[in-house]
Amino acid sequence: MTQTTRDILVTSALPYANGPLHLGHMLEAIQTDIWTRFQNLRGHNAYYVCADDAHGTAIMLRAEQEGITAEQQIDRIKALHVADYDDFLVKFDNFHSTHSDENKAFSEEIYKRLRSNGHIAERTITQAFDEEKGLFLADRFIKGTCPKCKSEDQYGDNCEVCGATYSPTDLINPVSAYTGSTPVEKESVHYFFDLPQFDEFLKDWTRSGTLQDEVANKLNEWLEAGLQQWDISRDAPYFGFEIPDAPGKYFYVWLDAPIGYMASFKNLCDKSDLEFDQFWGKDSSAELYHFIGKDIINFHALFWPSMLHSAEYRTPSGVFAHGFLTVNGKKMSKSRGTFINARTYLDFLKPEYLRYYFAAKLTNSVDDIDLNLEDFVQRVNSDLVGKLVNIASRCAKFVTKGNDGILADSPENAELWQQYVDANDVIANHFESREFSKAIREIMALADKANEYIAAKEPWKLAKEEGNEALVQAICSQGINMFHALITWLAPVIPSTAEASEAFLGKSLKWADATEYLGGHKINKFKPLLTRVEGEQVQKMIEQGQKEAEAMQKAAAEAAAKKQSANQTELLKEPLAEEIQFDDFAKVDLRVALIVDAQPVKGADKLLALTLDIGGETRNVFSGIKSAYNAEDLIGKHTVMVANLAPRKMRFGVSEGMVLAAGPGGDEIYILEPHDGAKPGQRVM
Ligand code: 2FM
Ligand code: ZN
Repeated sequence: MTQTTRDILVTSALPYANGPLHLGHMLEAIQTDIWTRFQNLRGHNAYYVCADDAHGTAIMLRAEQEGITAEQQIDRIKALHVADYDDFLVKFDNFHSTHSDENKAFSEEIYKRLRSNGHIAERTITQAFDEEKGLFLADRFIKGTCPKCKSEDQYGDNCEVCGATYSPTDLINPVSAYTGSTPVEKESVHYFFDLPQFDEFLKDWTRSGTLQDEVANKLNEWLEAGLQQWDISRDAPYFGFEIPDAPGKYFYVWLDAPIGYMASFKNLCDKSDLEFDQFWGKDSSAELYHFIGKDIINFHALFWPSMLHSAEYRTPSGVFAHGFLTVNGKKMSKSRGTFINARTYLDFLKPEYLRYYFAAKLTNSVDDIDLNLEDFVQRVNSDLVGKLVNIASRCAKFVTKGNDGILADSPENAELWQQYVDANDVIANHFESREFSKAIREIMALADKANEYIAAKEPWKLAKEEGNEALVQAICSQGINMFHALITWLAPVIPSTAEASEAFLGKSLKWADATEYLGGHKINKFKPLLTRVEGEQVQKMIEQGQKEAEAMQKAAAEAAAKKQSANQTELLKEPLAEEIQFDDFAKVDLRVALIVDAQPVKGADKLLALTLDIGGETRNVFSGIKSAYNAEDLIGKHTVMVANLAPRKMRFGVSEGMVLAAGPGGDEIYILEPHDGAKPGQRVM
């Protein structure tokens, strides 16, 4: 059988360089790694490249928080990411960073090509701006009260309580999530990628078999609804690449992220004899596949192919989206203790257990994948240890003993062996089409048949009687051959067990000879290949995950408190007012006042109307303390007021004096209260 060798470039989504990898990241990396290893095992030239996604505001601020530079931050994280992937046996041909020379060069080049093709538009937009931090605010970084249900502390784009969607300008009392200050509106020039010009191109491309049907249908809806220009610029300060000829403007992180696929591959080319153009050139015959999560389909199936098309590079052969990972049927959650970092898993369990479990569940659809921890233990132990390894361990000794490890020439049960031969292509097709769960089902059904065969033949009993030597060797040799086929098919999934099996089988594993009968071949002494998952370890991992989540929550709370006290220190540092003489001070008539009534003011967000008793005389004072007090809680309290302040006419009435209070604002305003015993009307000196 001759088959042509394919050149294949494979990627998975670039993880952000602002935090550790979790099992959701691993689901994708494992899916991609299995597929790439499968292609190589088939004899194709498949390369898997990835990188850290290093740009953006989040990373910049994270570094600031840690008191390090953004570069230090991304280097630190990259080392952690690489170690996690490595330990999960994810084999990249290259792992790079979007903050690299290659990526800068490609980003600039592609941008310039888009611009000269008339695909970049320029327009002034108005955005929320945090004056204290000097930063434009994305919707997610503005918080306030939901205009619909009035729930507090909601994001600028939607309310998590009532589900309303709105724009940040609709929020009541909007504040910046960074500083708590009230954002202002500010204008700025932005650059846009003119996606609507690619309408026709995308209608063709999305229907050309590059996408899963369900994804193509979704895109169709978007295309029908009409495309929008895509804002690709951000204002300084921003950690990223400055846009050519636009000082102070930076490429939005999502512009240079997918270009990072090219940059990582270019970096690989420079270290090897691979040709960049052969894979990325306009007329490339190589295949290019992106594995991604279903949440980032628009970037990969709308913007990215359009950019490549305009810039005269090849477009992807396929974009493969997968679903989300759930743990015990629920979204991974820090508070529920079901959020599992990659490293936490590795501290307790072997990577191959999870690789196998994911493979057993992965399909080529965008359905979510559930990691059910009980099922995980049961499945791994029953399939890998109980079925797979068991075949080799039961048969090996009868071949080694007395036969010097030489396998019998031909199958003892030809009909059973034929089932293996027939399955070879079926299994390959399942892997090729990313139907891993179907492949695993097929493989395990054959493993069951092998075990049934061995159990029925009982070679260990036969071996006890004289004259059965040849039969025992034939049965067990077939067992070893079946094991050889099974482990070849599973090699992309459990590569380190496959490697150990190569040592045992005395040959390297190749798909092409998975079912070539190994007759007269010499095997080596069997050594244990894989041990059972202990439920106890899973429990420990969960507990550790919970501890980490709690520690993270505590750290976040401490950071918030620190920020608050820093704000307060800043207040203390507020310069003192100009020096005055005692006579000036004596002019201010401060009096103890009893709050006899307090009412919200219709139409005023911040004011309470206070009725104050200053010893037989009452005053009406409007005070901006509503954000910190319930009106009714104030009634009966004593406070201090400026009693001789000239009455001021306000929109809601006349204010006859002023109440003294301190604090940074918001829910932190504290009225001054005299100690018990002070009576209304008494002078304060
Ligand atoms: O969603 C994410 O985690 C992004 N960092 C993925 C980027 S994929 C590619 F386009 F770079
Ligand atoms: Zn709401």
